[in-house]
Amino acid sequence: MKFTTSKDSYNAPEGAENYLKFLDSEDGSFFQTILFEAFRGRLTENKEQTILDVACGPGWLTAKLAEEFPNITGLDASGPFLEHAKSRYPDLKFTAGDLNTTLPYSDNQFDTIIMSMAAHDVEDQVKTFTELRRILKPQGKFLLTFVNPYYAFPVGIWKRGLIGRLLFKNPELKVRPYHWFAQQSRGFTFYDNLECYFYRLSEHLNHLREAGFSFEHMRELESLQDSSRFNLQHRLHRFPIFLLVEFKKVD
Ligand SMILES: C[S@@+](CC[C@H](N)C(=O)[O-])C[C@H]1O[C@@H](n2cnc3c(N)ncnc32)[C@H](O)[C@@H]1O
Repeated sequence: MKFTTSKDSYNAPEGAENYLKFLDSEDGSFFQTILFEAFRGRLTENKEQTILDVACGPGWLTAKLAEEFPNITGLDASGPFLEHAKSRYPDLKFTAGDLNTTLPYSDNQFDTIIMSMAAHDVEDQVKTFTELRRILKPQGKFLLTFVNPYYAFPVGIWKRGLIGRLLFKNPELKVRPYHWFAQQSRGFTFYDNLECYFYRLSEHLNHLREAGFSFEHMRELESLQDSSRFNLQHRLHRFPIFLLVEFKKVD
């Protein structure tokens, strides 16, 4: 199965379903905990602030933050995710919108914009970030998390061969040369049907700067615990595969 854009991947029922299955798994639950804590830790204590969760997916982060910040709203392009979010969190507002186009919000509308694990899903980052800057208030925060290009897929992938599988061995981390994917192709595919774009770390940061944001903070999301079990917590302890970056809208 082949999709032309990342947006199409999540619009397809099987793409959306795979992601929902991941969120329901043990790894997915850890993923949600660590991302929620990372975003929550960088929000100001102003409970009335207006927050836009762009590319909110099925809305779990919007809903978790809404417990403290009621003026939060989610936006996504995926029909299946929006349907899921609206039926699971009927009191919250979720809007359909495409990050490749003008968004249905006025200039300087939000105090804060968050984007969780979706910066690698947009095809033209400068265009998307420029549009997000338009709807953010001056001095507003833009918080993003994304896969750490130095450690995460596709740079490092966990694999075990046939013998390893027969012997129930733990997978091993195979590291691909950092520039291999960038040179071969801008796109790579998760699970056969979720297509993403490969951005280097410098590109993520430079594209935000080109769109008119100034750098404030950056952090690797690492687990505080090690574990002998093969799971996301264990991997995060050894290889910080997610990054949080914080930017500010400047004049
Ligand atoms: C990996 S999911 C992350 C979802 C959620 N933020 C989370 O942390 O679980 C990426 C999300 O980006 C959305 N997305 C991809 N391209 C988009 C576009 N052009 N406009 C709006 N959303 C888009 C997908 O529909 C999907 O919900």
